[in-house]
Amino acid sequence: MYKTHTCGELRATHEGQSVVLAGWVHRQRDHGGVTFIDLRDRYGVIQIVGDPAIPDASPIQHARQEWVLQVSGVVHRRPGGAENPNLATGEIEIHAQKVEVLNQAKPLPFLINKDEDIDENVRLKYRYLDLRREKMQKNLILRHKVIKFIRDYLSDRGFLEVETPMLFKTTPEGARDYLVPSRLQPGNFYALPQSPQQLKQLLMVAGVDRYFQIARCLRDEDLRGDRQPEFTQLDLEMSFVERDDVLSIVEGLFTSMVKEILPEKRLLSSPWPLLTHAEAVQRYGSDKPDLRFGMELYNLSEIFAKSEFRVFQMALQSGGVIKCIIVPGCAEYTRKEVDDLTEFAKEQGAKGLATLALTAEGVKGTAQKFIKPDEVAAIQQLTGAKTGDLVLFVADSKAVAHKTLSALRLLFRDRLKLADPNMLAFAWVVDFPMFEYNEEDKKWDAAHHPFTMPKMEDLPKFETDPASILSDAYDMVLNGYETASGSIRIHRSDIQQKVFQLLGLKDEEIQAKFGHLIEAFQFGAPPHGGMAPGIDRLVMLFADEPNIREVIAFPKNQAGRDVMADAPSPASEKQLRELQIKLDLKEEKK
Ligand code: AMO
Ligand code: AMP
Repeated sequence: MYKTHTCGELRATHEGQSVVLAGWVHRQRDHGGVTFIDLRDRYGVIQIVGDPAIPDASPIQHARQEWVLQVSGVVHRRPGGAENPNLATGEIEIHAQKVEVLNQAKPLPFLINKDEDIDENVRLKYRYLDLRREKMQKNLILRHKVIKFIRDYLSDRGFLEVETPMLFKTTPEGARDYLVPSRLQPGNFYALPQSPQQLKQLLMVAGVDRYFQIARCLRDEDLRGDRQPEFTQLDLEMSFVERDDVLSIVEGLFTSMVKEILPEKRLLSSPWPLLTHAEAVQRYGSDKPDLRFGMELYNLSEIFAKSEFRVFQMALQSGGVIKCIIVPGCAEYTRKEVDDLTEFAKEQGAKGLATLALTAEGVKGTAQKFIKPDEVAAIQQLTGAKTGDLVLFVADSKAVAHKTLSALRLLFRDRLKLADPNMLAFAWVVDFPMFEYNEEDKKWDAAHHPFTMPKMEDLPKFETDPASILSDAYDMVLNGYETASGSIRIHRSDIQQKVFQLLGLKDEEIQAKFGHLIEAFQFGAPPHGGMAPGIDRLVMLFADEPNIREVIAFPKNQAGRDVMADAPSPASEKQLRELQIKLDLKEEKK
């Protein structure tokens, strides 16, 4: 070993010991010929003192930032007044007797020792330097702890970790597949798994009973802050279970995890709240509500049933709703502030935003002249709005009213700091609709995936009213994010057939895509279900980071590129020839 100790572990109790350390030059300075260096490794930082009178230690005088040094020396207490209480090793320093330069470093593209804003593309290009920074090391460590906790917790409860192939066949999770051309079977392609969904169900047929995997998933979709083309799920599946058995394992896992590795965080409640999908959408306008604060949506359609306000009348006549949120203490908003909110509402798809300000001098706002005093009183009665509050109304289709008010709710969460950053508001959302109508393609899509079990009592509605069929699908939400999805699966081939038919899949297509699965289910498939928490999103929320790239060692940028390795990149002529692939590019682009 190049070292006897790490840079973070020595204390005053080691005084007098001879030690050997190795690490990077974090900081250096000179005081009257004596060189002081902060030497850093993953475990911490320690001060090294280089006396020019000791010849073997002289290389320390030339060392520059991020050079790699090996230092042999003796642990001393720092002189009185020179202690650094902000440093775990701040009571001591190492008096160097011998310093060896193990490697030099070029001038850096950014400083490792300062917590400053650096352009993200520069960080990603030099990710290995970015990862040297303390914050990034903390995130790597937290992610490791989360995954280790999962492995231990589930192994202790009889779950078996099984790896499943990356080179497989399409598994529909709603994104495009990444395809991999086969050299041995030219013209044929593997699909990288969007999730191990089919394979974990096959493992249930195989009698594995309780399966999990820290699984890489690959989806070709447009990127956002909480989406990467490759990401990691805790994928799990269980046999002979009902919904609540799955929820209870996952709730137990994350409740214990927070207690053990995030003691500074509080849970909103234990057991976690459980909302139906319909309830979540009605109360929060979203199927992934942030429950750390109130500001619920209220339905005013009844109060305004006889309203003379044209905007409200029109919404009701065309089958829509009038809904509102109450913004506390913002009645004195200026014209400009209200206009900005209206603009924001329009960006969400609303036609406008009506406002009512309950000021000490009386009712004001854009809707004031259209709303009668008894209607104001009824709103206050229903919502508890009081003097000083601002009421925001959207009159539109349910979908638009919910989307707009939900977005406004989150805007005020951030603007008025309504959510406690140390609270983790885990919750369950259950009873999702089974199908969604795809207006573009004029067909039904599976809301979760086609292997999800519809509610038994809704089976007769397949012929009459597919939109109202509910499924045994559930999501785990946390602070406004969807952090996991799952469902009880179809294990009967007659029901699976019905679902495929409604989705408009032809028999040959079903056979080509899922023949293996349907056949497997004819050999005694047990009732089963499971779910898949997204590790990246969870660690992002645990680490208070704004996007998942901060908790992934080597993420892609927003355009889906690895700017460090410069991928994707063209294949060589030889590779393409071997694959018997000819390119037909519409435009030359890199
Ligand atoms: P689903 O597609 O909902 O379900 O994915 C489950 C969870 O994975 C996370 N996630 C993502 N994280 C980062 N980047 C992405 N592009 C991304 N896409 C999804 C989310 C999401 O809640 N096989 C089913 C699960 C099951 O039914 O058991 C599935 O994959 O946190
Ligand atoms: P108008 O009669 O179109 O000038 O609108 C009067 C007020 O109602 C303005 O403040 C609009 O922003 C607002 N408004 C218009 N359409 C809607 C709507 N669909 N929902 C809520 N408010 C609206």
